[in-house]
Amino acid sequence: MLVAGAILVAAEFVHPAFADPPTRELTAPAPVRRILERGCYDCHSDQTRWPWYSRVPPISFWIRREVDEGRQRLNFSAWTDYASDPGSEDQKLDEIARLLKSGAMPPWYYAAMHPDARLSDSERAAITRWIADEKSADEKSAGEKSSHSGARDASSKWPAR
Ligand code: HEC
Repeated sequence: MLVAGAILVAAEFVHPAFADPPTRELTAPAPVRRILERGCYDCHSDQTRWPWYSRVPPISFWIRREVDEGRQRLNFSAWTDYASDPGSEDQKLDEIARLLKSGAMPPWYYAAMHPDARLSDSERAAITRWIADEKSADEKSAGEKSSHSGARDASSKWPAR
C-alpha cells in the first residue's frame, strides 16, 4: 500500500505533460556567462536588450539585420543544438576564441554604443580558459555516450567579479 502510494506520488512528478521543455541555453560558470551576456548576448542570444533607437528607422532595419545575422551564426540560447552535434560545439568555441583574440567581437560600433560591453584582457582570458576547459572535457567524453552540457560547477576556479 505504502509502495503503491509512493509510486503514485512519484508518477505525479514524472508526468511528461507537466515537464518544461529542456532549455537549449548555454550552461557555463556564472562569471563566464556574465561576461558573454554583457558583451555578446544582444546579438548572439534570444535575450536581446533592444535599445530605444532600435525602433527608429532607418537604423532599426540595420540593427534588426545585425541581430538576425548574429543569431544565425551563433546563438547562446540554442547552444545545446551545437553541443549535440559532434564537432559543431568545438567549431563555435574555436571561432569565439579566434574572434575574441583578434578583437573583432564585440564589433567596434557596438562597443562604442555600449561601453559596458567592452571586455578587459582578464575577461577575454577567462573566456579563453573556459573554452580550453570545454574542449578538453569534450575530448575526454568523446566516445562515451554521455551528452555533454558543460554544466560543471567550477565556481572555485571562477572567482566572482
Ligand atoms: C552588435 C552585434 C554583435 C555583438 C554584440 C557580438 N557579435 Fe558576434 N557576430 C555578429 C554578426 C553580425 C556576426 C556575423 C557576421 C560577421 O562574422 O561579422 C557575428 C559573428 C560571430 C561569430 C562567428 C560565428 C560563426 O561560426 O560563423 C562569432 C564566434 C562571434 N560573432 C562571437 C561573438 C562574441 C564572443 C561576442 C561577445 C564578446 C560577440 N560575437 C558580440 C554580431 C555581434
